[in-house]
Order: sequence, then structure tokens, then C-alpha cells
Amino acid sequence: MDLRDDIAQILVKEDEIASRVAELGDQISRDYQGKQLILVGVLKGAAIFLADLVRAISIPVSYDFVAISSYGADSKASGVVRIIKDWDDSVVSKHVLVIEDIVDTGWTLRLSYLLENLRSRKAASVRVCALLDKPSRREMGVPIDYNGFLVEDKYVVGYGLDYNGAYRSLPFIGVLKPEVYGGG
Ligand code: IMP
Ligand code: MG
Repeated sequence: MDLRDDIAQILVKEDEIASRVAELGDQISRDYQGKQLILVGVLKGAAIFLADLVRAISIPVSYDFVAISSYGADSKASGVVRIIKDWDDSVVSKHVLVIEDIVDTGWTLRLSYLLENLRSRKAASVRVCALLDKPSRREMGVPIDYNGFLVEDKYVVGYGLDYNGAYRSLPFIGVLKPEVYGGG
């Protein structure tokens, strides 16, 4: 079976991702020159983006990951979104850049209080870098300081983004064929 057979359309090609990641890396390197920078990636979707981005940054940088869990299908309605894996090291006096795969409704970042949590633990600054921004579906405001690409209102997979745990390994960002969703 070839994963690519399930793709209806490629929205962002591999080389387009690479050149945008290089631009973001340059910009971040300039903006954080002389500052202690740590990238905090939100698992699992942001892992691939973070891995590429960190290598496009030319200043000293460290990184860590957090995991955010929502409980059940109604969790967003009930407001239960939790940080289930915390970053390991102190962020005191460090400049934190939170790395997300995509900001869609905005619920995950807002209801997990991730940004507030980092600030309350005395990070020097807390900003957000999202590979993808899907503004048409936003329900809660999330400040995005660095953004890779805007995407239209379509469910996308690849480059870290999944559908039921699959397709994260695709090197591009694409849309699945409708029949893939059929089996539920
Ligand atoms: P939000 O809470 O609605 O902003 O959604 C954030 C999370 O939902 C992202 O970090 C993704 O894990 C997931 N997500 C939202 N839209 C998509 C998509 O189009 N493809 C894959 N995952 C998505
Ligand atoms: Mg995610």
C-alpha cells in the first residue's frame, strides 16, 4: 500500500515547506539574537515541523515538548483540555516559542492555558509559531506571531498532521480522498 494513493490534492509541496521553514528560521534567528531561546513543541503534530525549524535557526537554541490532551469527543464543549506532559526544564528568564502544527478553532491553545502557564512560570517571553493557520474556523483568539501558511477550511494531513494517527509521515501537506473517511 502506498500512503500517497489516499491523497486527493497536495496543498503545500515539500520544497515550498522547506523554503518557508528556512525563512522562518532566519526571521527567528534575527528576532532572538542575544536571547536565550527555547522552542516548546506541542506533541505529536508539531514534531516534524520543530525538527526542521530548529535546524534552520542559526543562533543557540534548545527545545522541549508538551502534550495536550482533550478528554473525549465532548471535551471541547466541557472545556476540559489538559497539559498531560510538561516541559522538563525551567523556563525562568528564557524566551519561549511555542511550536504548533496548526491553529484551527483555537480551543487547544486557549483551554490548555499553555501560554498562561509558561508566563506564570516566569518565562521572559512567550510567543507562538504555527506551521498552518486556518483562520476561517477560529472560535477563540490565539495570537500567532510566526505563521508558515494560511490554509482554507479543509482537513489537511502530512508533515506531522494526522487523520486517526495516520499520514503524519507524508513530506507534504495534502487533503485526503473522500473515500478514506468512509470507513469512519
Ligand atoms: P484547535 O484546538 O481547533 O485549534 O485545533 C488544534 C489541533 O487540532 C491541532 O493541533 C491539530 O492537532 C488538530 N487539527 C486541527 N485541524 C486539523 C487538520 O486540518 N488536520 C489535522 N489536524 C488538525
Ligand atoms: Mg496538535
